[in-house]
Amino acid sequence: MSRKLLIGTGVALSLLISPISQVFAEEPTKGERKQVDNVAHRGAAGYAPESTIAGFDLAVDMKADYIEIDVQRSEDGELVVIHDTTVDRTTDGTGKVGDLTFEQLKSLDAGSWKGEQFAGESIPAFEEILERYHGKVGILIELKAPELYPGIEEEVTEALKDHHLDKPQNEKIIIQSFNFESMKKMNGLLPHVPIGVLTYSRAHTTTEALQEFASYADWVNPSYGIVTEELVDGVHSLGMQVGSWTVRSQEAADFLFEMEVDAIITDYPDYVDPGNEE
Ligand code: G3P
Ligand code: CA
Repeated sequence: MSRKLLIGTGVALSLLISPISQVFAEEPTKGERKQVDNVAHRGAAGYAPESTIAGFDLAVDMKADYIEIDVQRSEDGELVVIHDTTVDRTTDGTGKVGDLTFEQLKSLDAGSWKGEQFAGESIPAFEEILERYHGKVGILIELKAPELYPGIEEEVTEALKDHHLDKPQNEKIIIQSFNFESMKKMNGLLPHVPIGVLTYSRAHTTTEALQEFASYADWVNPSYGIVTEELVDGVHSLGMQVGSWTVRSQEAADFLFEMEVDAIITDYPDYVDPGNEE
């Protein structure tokens, strides 16, 4: 778990002006930061090539609570972890993920673009991530563009069941997507696994939209640009949690602490837990 930080000023002032017994008798309300899950987006993507073992290992070293991964499928049916629907930006190859075989995808260099020290990093298989990290760190699994990969929900379900990650337990697994129909389906397939809906649109934060999400989801995960106190309160009042993305500055992290979200999804885990530097 990440920090439960006292920003300091409120408590420090109280200590100066109040009797000690009074200070400790009261629940601090000002300046307190709630406990927030620190989610390393695509690994610690600010410091290492995104969606690689180097990045996910670094996130674990930085004591993130979760790693965030994007799952897609190769031409020959292997589930793989990569964000874009093409390999062009993050590897030395070209083409759509779904048009390349697993062997072709695995042969690509997914590290050099971030720095020569990462040369040889490859696109991980979903299985590889489950095997390496389950029980060590939570895994926030995004189904990326599942409409491109019919049946991917069943395949992800099978993989999670193979690893006994389909039941309530301490192993933290959350599944999320921008595709709401896919998430409804996942909730049916894995009723005990928390489901998240991703959005950057205010059209999806109306009371009606939130009520609809509450019928199958546990998390509403908005881009931080549309986060307000009202939204967080509205989501909480329906029994769901808020995870917001993508933090790439300390100011953005501080804003989300202020909004009292439940999880911060960040390329820089140390912005959420300053003690956990690279
Ligand atoms: O986990 C939230 C975030 O990953 C959603 O956006 O484009 O980085 O997959 P994206
Ligand atoms: Ca993602």
